[in-house]
Amino acid sequence: MIKSTADIFSDFKGTEDDLIPVLQKVQENFGYLSQKSMMDVGRFLRIPTSKVWATATFYTQFRLKPIGEKHIMLCRGTACHVKGAPRILDEIELKLGITEGETSSDGKYSLESVACIGACGLAPCILINEDVKGRLTPKLVNKLFEDKERRDQDVE
Ligand code: FES
Repeated sequence: MIKSTADIFSDFKGTEDDLIPVLQKVQENFGYLSQKSMMDVGRFLRIPTSKVWATATFYTQFRLKPIGEKHIMLCRGTACHVKGAPRILDEIELKLGITEGETSSDGKYSLESVACIGACGLAPCILINEDVKGRLTPKLVNKLFEDKERRDQDVE
């Protein structure tokens, strides 16, 4: 259940030291850090919004854009890289029409790459929301995202 920022803030003392944990909680709750939520955080911690913004843009863990209904995290760890992660990334980008860091215009998919997701035995792999898909090949990627093609055809 999505909480309000006031509910999130009630778990914190409201000191500047809370900045990163508060941002993490806000992102966990809303999926990303909107401009409004960063302003709310600044007001709550009594620090300028510019400082909140600088922190949010410095750390790669923070997202400033909404993620898709299906958030794809492609593993770029060593095992996955060696087993073909760059080809998998190319195929996903081609199939979904988005590049790394983007969300599709219909809000259905978003794509980012991350370090090892802890499933090296299944390399190369991706996470779709919480679901690990491993031992991927370009052919399997095509199969995974078949519904995307069907939806596009319905629109035409
Ligand atoms: S390197 Fe990809 S899961 Fe570990």
